[in-house]
Amino acid sequence: MNNILIETTDRIQTITINRPSKLNALNKETILELSNAINAAESDSAVRVIVLTGSGEKAFVAGADIAEFADFTVEQGKELAAHGQEILFDKVENCSKPVIAAINGFALGGGLELAMAAHFRIASDNARMGLPEVSLGVIPGYGGTQRLPQLVGKGRAMEMIMTAGMIDANTAQSYGLVNHVTTQEELLPTCYKIAGKIMRNSPVAIGAAIDAVNAGFVDGIDGYQAEIDCFGASFGTSDFEEGTTAFLEKRKASF
Ligand code: COA
Repeated sequence: MNNILIETTDRIQTITINRPSKLNALNKETILELSNAINAAESDSAVRVIVLTGSGEKAFVAGADIAEFADFTVEQGKELAAHGQEILFDKVENCSKPVIAAINGFALGGGLELAMAAHFRIASDNARMGLPEVSLGVIPGYGGTQRLPQLVGKGRAMEMIMTAGMIDANTAQSYGLVNHVTTQEELLPTCYKIAGKIMRNSPVAIGAAIDAVNAGFVDGIDGYQAEIDCFGASFGTSDFEEGTTAFLEKRKASF
C-alpha cells in the first residue's frame, strides 16, 4: 500500500490516508487501497471498530484528486463516480463494523463525502468542511448531494453546495454534521474512547442496527420492516443469549 497506513490496537483499526503532500487527496489508487482495507477489516475478527483519519495536521482529505480527472470525458466522469461509490463510499456506509471519521483538518469534496459515508464523525477544532465541486464546474459525485441533506437538512446542504464554501468545526457541530469537536491532540483519543464504549456491546447487534438505520435511507425499502426483520433475527444469535443471560445473572456480557 502506497497511500494508506493501517494500525490495529485493542481491536480498533485506524486507517490513515497518507498523501500529506497532496493534502491526502483521493486518487484512484488511494480509493482502491481504502476499499481493500475496509473489506479486510470487515472480515478480520480482530477488528471491532474502524477509525478513518488523514495524515498530518492540515487535512483529513482535500477532495478527489483534481489532477487525475481534469481531462475526463462525460463517460469517464460518470464511471469515476459510479465506480468510487460502489467500491468505497457505499461500502463504508454499509460496513457491518462501526466506521468513525476523525476529521483532523480540511475535509473537502470527496473528503467530506468519505467522512459522511462513515457512520458518524468527530472533528478537531481546526477542521474545515465543504463541498467545493461547483467552483470547479462539477457537482459532488461520491454521494455528497444525497448524504449532506440527510445529515444537515436540505436548505443548509443547498447553501453549502451552491456557495462551495467551507464551514468550521463548531458550525459543523451545530449543523449535526459532526458529533463532537475536540482539540487536535484529543481527536483520536476521543474516537478511541467512543470506540471503547461501542465495543462493550454486541457486534452482531451493532451490525444489524447499521443495516436497519441505513435501510430507512434506501428508496423502495421500508425501514420499519427492515427493523422488524433485523430485530427478529437478533433472537437467533448467541450474542442475544449472552446479553440477556448476563443481565439476568447480574454480570457484564462478554461479546
Ligand atoms: N486534488 C489534487 N491535488 C490537491 C487537492 C486535490 N483535491 N487538494 C490539494 N492538492 C494539492 C495541491 O495541488 C498542492 O500540490 P502541489 O504542492 O504539488 O502544488 C498540495 O496539495 C497542497 O495544496 P495547496 O493548495 O498548496 O494548499 P493550501 O493550504 O494553499 O490550500 C486548500 C488548501 C484545501 C484550500 C486547497 O488545496 C484546495 O482548494 N484544494 C482543492 C479542494 C477541492 O476543490 N476539492 C474538491 C475536489 S472535487
